Amino acid sequence: MTAPSSVEDVRSGLRSTGYLPGQSTALVSYLAAKLGKPILVEGPAGVGKTELAKALAQYLDRTLVRLQCYEGLDEAKALYEWNYRKQLLRIQAEAEGAGWQEVQDDIFGPEFLLARPLLQAIESAEPVVLLIDEIDKTDQEFEAMLLEVLSDFQISIPELGVIEAQSRPLVLLTSNNTRELTEALKRRCLYLWLDYPDIERELEIVRLHVPELPETLMRKLIEIIHMVRGLDLKKPPSIAESIDWARALILLGADDIDQSVFERTLSIIVKHRTDLDVVAERVGVKLGGGSGILGRVG
Ligand SMILES: Nc1ncnc2c1ncn2[C@@H]1O[C@H](COP(=O)(O)OP(=O)(O)OP(=O)(O)O)[C@@H](O)[C@H]1O
Ligand SMILES: [Mg+2]
Repeated sequence: MTAPSSVEDVRSGLRSTGYLPGQSTALVSYLAAKLGKPILVEGPAGVGKTELAKALAQYLDRTLVRLQCYEGLDEAKALYEWNYRKQLLRIQAEAEGAGWQEVQDDIFGPEFLLARPLLQAIESAEPVVLLIDEIDKTDQEFEAMLLEVLSDFQISIPELGVIEAQSRPLVLLTSNNTRELTEALKRRCLYLWLDYPDIERELEIVRLHVPELPETLMRKLIEIIHMVRGLDLKKPPSIAESIDWARALILLGADDIDQSVFERTLSIIVKHRTDLDVVAERVGVKLGGGSGILGRVG
């Protein structure tokens, strides 16, 4: 297991896993690891929130335990649940004469417990990275339950007692801002806002994922992406879309992004009917003109 000794350490460690962090990402990750505080990562879709948790786990050489949140997620899926089937089998297998008390003591033991991600994370002997992904999809009750786990690092199970943490996980919570999280949760976390990267860093990221794409074409692609992001769209293209677009250009054997290539591949970066019209009109025209930064490659 690795313990970071400086911000620079974290920065280079993350880079070595293929994740290129911005300045605040390395800083906040370092502080979180040192202070033992959770990180709340917010930002638009596809800017590397989930990937950051994976990269940190890889760099710190820890297991990643992931809790994917969704509407209606409950404690049974997040904390633990009893293995009813196994309990039933035990009851049936129990000798005829056994009293209820004995059976009950028996079937509510650790052997019949199914540990879900939160319990797994604190029960682990080695510290893990715990990713609580898309926390904004759950409701406030769930958030309250989570607060308890994250502040006390213990889980109390009525039939079994309190299970205390064996190790402190590094916790990352991600949110797409579909609802405002409670103040109580925010207070306990370090905050990291991830935004779209600048041109140079995005170039580096896409280069890392799609090294086969020629440099000039790559730069043109990123410049167009940034131009499209500047338009007032419902859903601006993310880093994930830049990467997909680069891969698509390779597959199609495109050696330039001209009007026709752009039109054919537009739906890879723009995914709303109304956005398509806006982009086709505003960017398409510039490509057709073939001047300035968007002039022909090569
Ligand atoms: N800094 C980065 N370095 C390397 N790759 C990155 C970086 N940021 C994003 N990516 C890449 O962008 C893609 C999308 O990232 P990710 O899935 O983490 O987005 P997200 O913010 O979790 O989005 P969503 O809110 O939709 O879940 C991934 O393929 C990831 O590898
Ligand atoms: Mg994600």
